[in-house]
Amino acid sequence: MLQHRSTQSGVAPISASVETMKILVTGGTGYIGSHTVLSLQEAGHDVVVLDNLVNSSEESLRRVSELTGKTAAFHKVDLVDEPAVEAVFDQHQIDAVIHFAGLKAVGESVQEPLAYYYNNIVGTLNLLRAMDKHNVRSIVFSSSATVYGEHNPIPYIEKMEIGANNPYGRTKEQIEDILSDLGNADDRWHIALLRYFNPVGAHPSGRIGEDPQGIPNNLVPFIAQVAVGRREKLMVFGGDYDTPDGTAQRDYIHVVDLADGHVAALNYIAGRPGVRRWNLGSGRGSSVLEVLRSFEKAVGQPIPYEITGRRAGDLPAFWADASSALADLGWSTTKNVDQMCEDHWRWQKNNPYGYNAAEPAAAGNAQASGA
Ligand code: NAD
Ligand code: UD1
Repeated sequence: MLQHRSTQSGVAPISASVETMKILVTGGTGYIGSHTVLSLQEAGHDVVVLDNLVNSSEESLRRVSELTGKTAAFHKVDLVDEPAVEAVFDQHQIDAVIHFAGLKAVGESVQEPLAYYYNNIVGTLNLLRAMDKHNVRSIVFSSSATVYGEHNPIPYIEKMEIGANNPYGRTKEQIEDILSDLGNADDRWHIALLRYFNPVGAHPSGRIGEDPQGIPNNLVPFIAQVAVGRREKLMVFGGDYDTPDGTAQRDYIHVVDLADGHVAALNYIAGRPGVRRWNLGSGRGSSVLEVLRSFEKAVGQPIPYEITGRRAGDLPAFWADASSALADLGWSTTKNVDQMCEDHWRWQKNNPYGYNAAEPAAAGNAQASGA
């Protein structure tokens, strides 16, 4: 077990590992998961991936393997299937877990709350029970800036009271509570709760990236699909916010920086039991139009857009206070919005239909605003 083997003290360098560990990555074929598998392998760790492929493809792992020259063991397992989860722990001597697996679409969570609570909460409980049974008590969990809700002043700081305003966000908040209760009850647990801001970009190779199914909900994947000709134009949700250019501001973070943040958190908790929370963001806000301009620069031509009404539930602006991650983990972002857009564009241009070689039949592209 990790806690018996580790000797780390002080601030851990991001890329150096405490020692080689076997890390289980749930959701490891997904967007952030696949980039984190790559970072873990580059840092010298052995990786086991568990994913039910509900929102991803095993092709991502094949490409990670091309890039790192290492292979991650893959288990197509649904976290709600407790015996199948246990079987993974029976088969591998896992040292620590990075837990990405979950459903993540805010709008869908409002329509189908039971599916979200069942998948995200029951899946996590099964994972934690299997971990406990197998004496694996180190976990890094994917939380979200969405837990800060609507009422906190910006920038968001970890010690603020949280209160998500949608079912997806509440699953994150409830899992944070479960993990905090667990860490408080049993001091053998090493727990990191990472609150991500807005992950975008792709690995600079252009081989792995975000592959949303259907119409993208999020800004950068939507812009990328307009740029590659799959959508007609970007609808900018709101031009009348009280911000410098009237469009909403967010804290965008390059997915490779985010992945490295997980390796840093893993190193930090290795020698330290307890529960800790860190914001992973850049600490600065960028507006929708600023991101659009950066993407246009990457593409080398204008991207059509239209300013329309605000999206229900959107906030005018938020960004992280990321000073705790710097102080504790020695981690901060290294890539700016221009680099995020360049890398995201390289991925989209080289893989116009994501991991599918061609436009999938009946993939719903006909819905794309006439595109
Ligand atoms: P993603 O959908 O690409 O990855 C999630 C993975 O989990 C997918 O591969 C999916 O197949 C898998 N999965 C879902 N339910 C599962 C289950 N029951 N059993 C096994 N596998 C299951 O999403 P992502 O963007 O890589 O996000 C990873 C994590 O980070 C999620 O927990 C998400 O909520 C969180 N997060 C994402 C963002 C973001 O903007 N991308 C922001 C904050 C937090
Ligand atoms: C989303 C999630 C939130 C999560 C966060 C970080 C939603 C509703 N919320 O929020 O839970 O914590 O990502 O990953 O999905 N925009 C447009 N046109 C578009 C798409 C977006 O103008 O087609 C605007 C939005 O109004 C927003 C900004 O772009 O102002 C960023 O949007 P998005 O990428 O969806 O992220 P968040 O709204 O921050």
